[in-house]
Amino acid sequence: MELEQKIRSRAARVGVVGLGYVGLPLAVEFAKAGFAVTGIDLDERKTARVNAGDSYVGDVPSEVLAPLVSQGKLRATTDFQALAELDTVNICVPTPLRKTKDPDMSYIVSACQQIAKYLHAGMLLILESTTYPGTTDELLLPMFEESGLRAGRDFFLCFSPERVDPGNPAYQTVNIPKVVGGVTPECSRMGALFYEQALERVVPVSSTQVAEMVKLLENTFRMINIGMVNELAMMCSRMGIDVWEVIDAAATKPFGFMPFYPGPGLGGHCIPIDPFYLSWKTRQAGIEARFIELAGYINGQMPHFVVDKIQDALNDHGKALKGSHVHILGVAYKKDIDDLRESPALDVMHLLERKGARLTYSDPYVAELRSEGLELRSEPPSPEADCVVIITNHSAFDYAQILADASLIVDTRNALKGLVSDKIVRL
Ligand SMILES: NC(=O)c1ccc[n+]([C@@H]2O[C@H](COP(=O)([O-])OP(=O)(O)OC[C@H]3O[C@@H](n4cnc5c(N)ncnc54)[C@H](O)[C@@H]3O)[C@@H](O)[C@H]2O)c1
Repeated sequence: MELEQKIRSRAARVGVVGLGYVGLPLAVEFAKAGFAVTGIDLDERKTARVNAGDSYVGDVPSEVLAPLVSQGKLRATTDFQALAELDTVNICVPTPLRKTKDPDMSYIVSACQQIAKYLHAGMLLILESTTYPGTTDELLLPMFEESGLRAGRDFFLCFSPERVDPGNPAYQTVNIPKVVGGVTPECSRMGALFYEQALERVVPVSSTQVAEMVKLLENTFRMINIGMVNELAMMCSRMGIDVWEVIDAAATKPFGFMPFYPGPGLGGHCIPIDPFYLSWKTRQAGIEARFIELAGYINGQMPHFVVDKIQDALNDHGKALKGSHVHILGVAYKKDIDDLRESPALDVMHLLERKGARLTYSDPYVAELRSEGLELRSEPPSPEADCVVIITNHSAFDYAQILADASLIVDTRNALKGLVSDKIVRL
């Protein structure tokens, strides 16, 4: 049967390489749509948990995963030989930056080397990992065409940016519009047809480069606007103006303004990282991505700014930071999730520790924390703490109670909005 028919009839055997925050929800959507899905991951613990119907991704409840596994719609393996039987493969492996802020393509390259071994006619391959524009055409296409098979004729190759927003109850994999671009028009058509079977809205674009750039535009837009508003927060602090009130009032403008909020720094696997894929690539073309570099610098200052706020607040209470007990509320990189990657809480805690503060923390999603010498377990805030610092505004915290018990609170997220007290110091 031709691939198109297999896709339309749900007979296509779907594969997902990399079963993390992106890959597992995607695998589940295709299984829910009636496809037989195989997930491939290097991590045996993850494949074992998937096969036991036990989810490790917050947005995928085990009650949804388990029946798909028991009905034989979804299975996971560490064995790449499974690729030989698959008709489609979505690649959802990590794309970190090296310390030098250069893209680390090693996960993509290693996954694609495995896929190339099992590439066969009629296969559809879609890269979803965030990357620099040109990756699919310049890096992946030659690896796959070495087989003698031609993209657009014998097999199909696309890029589709992943836009998941972990912890967002309104928008999940199924209802976030899916942009897809292929290396040929036939590849784009096949990629769009594939996603249409399981997702609500598909947005085909003319090339893989456009699809790659869409993701970088979206995340660079956020990163630069956050950088701008963080700079505004530092200015307002100097001038004694409440930046939160300014933003809320500006946001009443019904057109031409979109609110962004300051915070303790950027976190997560996307916003602090992805724009540097673009700046790395444009540097090769002789263009300096100056907005990105500037926003990166300002956002990188925020943990220092927060530590200065804490120090000043303690001084105003007649205490020194050195030797003070500082309790951090929330260490995940954003509200209501368990992900610690690039979390600004870690930067703030390391800076505080270096200045001699004694640290404790609470986070309902992160039971223990190990990071470059820090080894702590989550514990409730103690009324004895000299200062409580809200870094991540999880909904589960009882802010009124925390305020009542604390002697001093530095709030970097405006989590105490509406509460009035001399104990509160806002960003
Ligand atoms: N997490 C997000 O919110 C998010 C949002 C949009 C885009 N992205 C992008 O999606 C991609 C995946 O991110 P993630 O958050 O799902 O990462 P993750 O670390 O949660 O998952 C990646 C998985 O890939 C596996 N893996 C690594 N190398 C492999 C290989 N060679 N073969 C098979 N499996 C391999 C890992 O074991 C891991 O389970 C990244 O490029 C990321 O930038 C992530």
